[in-house]
Amino acid sequence: MQEFLKPVAAEIEQTLETLLPADGPMAAPMRHAVMAGGKRLRGFLCVQSAVLYDVDRTQALRTAAAIECLHAYSLVHDDLPCMDNDALRRGQPTVHMKWGGATAILAGDGLQTLAFEIIGNPATGSGDVRARLMQTLANAAQAMVTGQAQDIAAQTAATPLTLDEIIALQANKTGSLIEWSAQAGVRLAGRESPALAAYSRAIGLAFQIQDDVLDIAGDAEIAGKRLQKDTGAGKATFVSLLGLDTARAQANALVDEALAALADFGACADPLRTVARYIVERDR
Ligand code: IPE
Ligand code: IPE
Ligand code: MG
Ligand code: MG
Ligand code: MG
Repeated sequence: MQEFLKPVAAEIEQTLETLLPADGPMAAPMRHAVMAGGKRLRGFLCVQSAVLYDVDRTQALRTAAAIECLHAYSLVHDDLPCMDNDALRRGQPTVHMKWGGATAILAGDGLQTLAFEIIGNPATGSGDVRARLMQTLANAAQAMVTGQAQDIAAQTAATPLTLDEIIALQANKTGSLIEWSAQAGVRLAGRESPALAAYSRAIGLAFQIQDDVLDIAGDAEIAGKRLQKDTGAGKATFVSLLGLDTARAQANALVDEALAALADFGACADPLRTVARYIVERDR
């Protein structure tokens, strides 16, 4: 993991440690899904967007823990045999490889509702703040599901998707949770920010372009998951449509857009600037 992510990732993991179930049949699979690695990028975005608005650290960390649970749910289901059929995630066997498909489905279900329980708890903020976070998270999670459905449909589509269709698919599939994360901080402060909305849209799309670039050009050992799988599966990606160089250029242009959106923020937004660049430079 990149050095700059580590201290915040450690804080998020300490928070997750206290929130995940400690016993019962679902404790081990749910903990494996969340705790066995991961960059904590979405959690980092929650925490660093909260810093801009002087939000209480505990509230920011609870929000970060919630999105990491929701993200982990999406990965557990994404890896299922009926979806991407992947045996490795974060350098470890996937939940269904260790515990079987039924437990993997249940672990995902449990993590999704745990995310909402964490946000709904009064320790996360005022009633209005929690309601806004829950409503927007539910919306983002539904967009993610729509994106996953579009991703699956594209594999058997008669004609390849257009660029606009790929952008819409990826904004749903991956962009929605990243956008929610980068706006969580301002929402914890009971506000909205068009600048952060623009930043979050740009990095969300850049993130999935880099995921697609890494699928073609990355190192599976470093990524901790199977790569070179999108082409074989007939996935619609930026790279399949534009080629590697144009996809990379597009990702870099989106980072410039993200940085421009932060122009009115001072040095407190530097972590958000650093992570925007990291999103397209990362190798995992
Ligand atoms: C991987 O997300 C899945 C996509 C949405 C493309 P990340 O690359 O953020 O995965 P972790 O959390 O670091 O494992
Ligand atoms: C996963 O996208 C997106 C979600 C889980 C919502 P991918 O299928 O491209 O992610 P990886 O490459 O398996 O991590
Ligand atoms: Mg997938
Ligand atoms: Mg996948
Ligand atoms: Mg991928």
